[in-house]
Formats: sequence, structure tokens, C-alpha cells
Amino acid sequence: MNLELQGKVAIVGGGSKGIGFGIARVLAGEGATVAISARRQAELEAAAADLRQRTGGTIVPITADCRRADDCRRVVAEVAARCGGIDILVNNDGAPPLGEALSFDDTAWERAVEQNLLYVTRMVREVVPHMRARGGGSILNITAVSAIQPIAGFALSASTWAGVIGYAKTLSLEIGRDGINVNTICPGYIDTSRLRKVFAASDEGAEAVQQRLRAEIPMNRIGSVDDVANLVALLVSPKGSYITGTAIQVDGGLLRATR
Ligand SMILES: NC(=O)c1ccc[n+]([C@@H]2O[C@H](COP(=O)([O-])OP(=O)(O)OC[C@H]3O[C@@H](n4cnc5c(N)ncnc54)[C@H](OP(=O)(O)O)[C@@H]3O)[C@@H](O)[C@H]2O)c1
Repeated sequence: MNLELQGKVAIVGGGSKGIGFGIARVLAGEGATVAISARRQAELEAAAADLRQRTGGTIVPITADCRRADDCRRVVAEVAARCGGIDILVNNDGAPPLGEALSFDDTAWERAVEQNLLYVTRMVREVVPHMRARGGGSILNITAVSAIQPIAGFALSASTWAGVIGYAKTLSLEIGRDGINVNTICPGYIDTSRLRKVFAASDEGAEAVQQRLRAEIPMNRIGSVDDVANLVALLVSPKGSYITGTAIQVDGGLLRATR
């Protein structure tokens, strides 16, 4: 299937590695121009060079911290100026710290809200005028299945991403008529350096924790970055434009609910 992404301009947050890098690779491979952002410039430039080599695509690296309102504005303005418009926004970054819900003070909560929820609302506010000017577009948020089925220790991300899911659904009701679809993907366990660090830090030992998790996952494996990126590519493409307001888990069946 040709996803008709040639000539589209996409912004992919957290594009220097992991899920964001995988999304940038798939979108660029499908012919989109892809702007990637992250905080560390050297890693971001290296990722851009790697993506160019793998896909032959146009990759625009922009160093930014998604927790800063100015950086959000600057990323969108720079992409619009350099690429002539914006069709696709993928909100993705790192995540707030883990810990027991009662252990966090207001500063920790404010930081988490800024990183996960305000980031999304700021980016959306900036890109929607550009999408309207193009006659449509697509917004996609990466959260986690723990926003639907919380896990102890994940209070900061589960609470703020539940807010993202509510925001995205509301937004989809309000901007569908502009030809903009809004969706959220909730990954389960996806094989990235972030997850490998979590495994390595576990008291159980990396291999034991992986075996335990695999046994919990009906598909009996940890997900790959491509499992997420391929769905993103469909949802942000013209072929996925009738799909909006959804929060879709990509988790090998981990979520234990019919909804
Ligand atoms: N991997 C999983 O199993 C899994 C499962 C469910 C949900 N998720 C969520 O999916 C997202 C991506 O996960 P991942 O495993 O791909 O993580 P990752 O490999 O650690 O990559 C995170 C990316 O985001 C960038 N980033 C982090 N903080 C940022 C900030 N404040 N501003 C701008 N960029 C920032 C990082 O670059 P810099 O550090 O240079 O900024 C990097 O490019 C996270 O929110 C994660 O919680 C992951």
C-alpha cells in the first residue's frame, strides 16, 4: 500500500533514538520530509545523518527541550520556515521519573505536567494554524498502555498521559472539520535503550524480568520499535485520515480489558 506520504512534512519529537527514531525512519522511508527534535545536539545530528543514509530522505534536526514553551514555538516556526509548511505532528519524548505516587512533591508534579501534557498542548497550538493553511493534517501522541492500565510506580506518567488522551479526544471533536485527525498510541513494552536500562536496573536481573514480562504478554514477545512506527505511519497518512479520536494500544495484548 502506498501511504501517500511523499512531499509531506512531519515533526517527530524525541527523534534521536528509540520509538521516535523508528517513527522518523519509517516516515522518511515513505518519502516524508522529517524534522526531528531532542535535547542533545550531538546525538540528534548523528541520528539525522543515520536517517539520511538509511532512507535517502530529507531530515531536519532541531535541538529543543519539549518542557520549554519557547522551544516548542521555535521548533514549529523553524520547520514551517525551512520546509514550507507542516502536515504531521508526532508528540514523543522521554518520561517523568518513576516512584511511588505519595513520594512526589508539587515540583515533581509540575515538571511531569509540563513534560507530558503541556508539551502536547503547546505543540498542537502552534501547528494547527499551519495544518489549516494546508487544508488538513495529522496529530499523533505517544503515551503508554500504563495510561489506561496503570502500573504501581508510574503515577507521574500515567496521570499526565491520561490527560493527554482526554485532551486528544476533545481536540479530535473540535478540529475534525479542518481535516485534521488526532490519535494516541499507547505502547506496551517496546525494545529500546530506555527499556533495556529499566531491565538492567531491576533487582530480578535483566533476563529474569524479560522472561516474566514475555510470559504476561499474549503475543509472548517484547514489541519492536517498528510495531509502533508502522501504525504511526498509517494513522498520520492520508490512508488513515478517517481514524480519529482513538487511543490504540500496541502491546501484544498486554491490556486486560475490552475497553
Ligand atoms: N520503550 C518502551 O517500552 C515504552 C513503552 C511505553 C511508553 N514509552 C514511552 O515512549 C516514549 C519514547 O520512549 P523510548 O523508549 O523511545 O525512549 P528513549 O529511547 O529514551 O528516547 C527518548 C527520546 O526523547 C528525547 N527526549 C527526552 N526528553 C526530552 C525532552 N525533555 N525534550 C526533548 N526531547 C526529549 C531523547 O533525546 P534527549 O535525551 O537527547 O533529549 C530521545 O530522543 C517515552 O515517553 C516513553 O515513556 C516507551
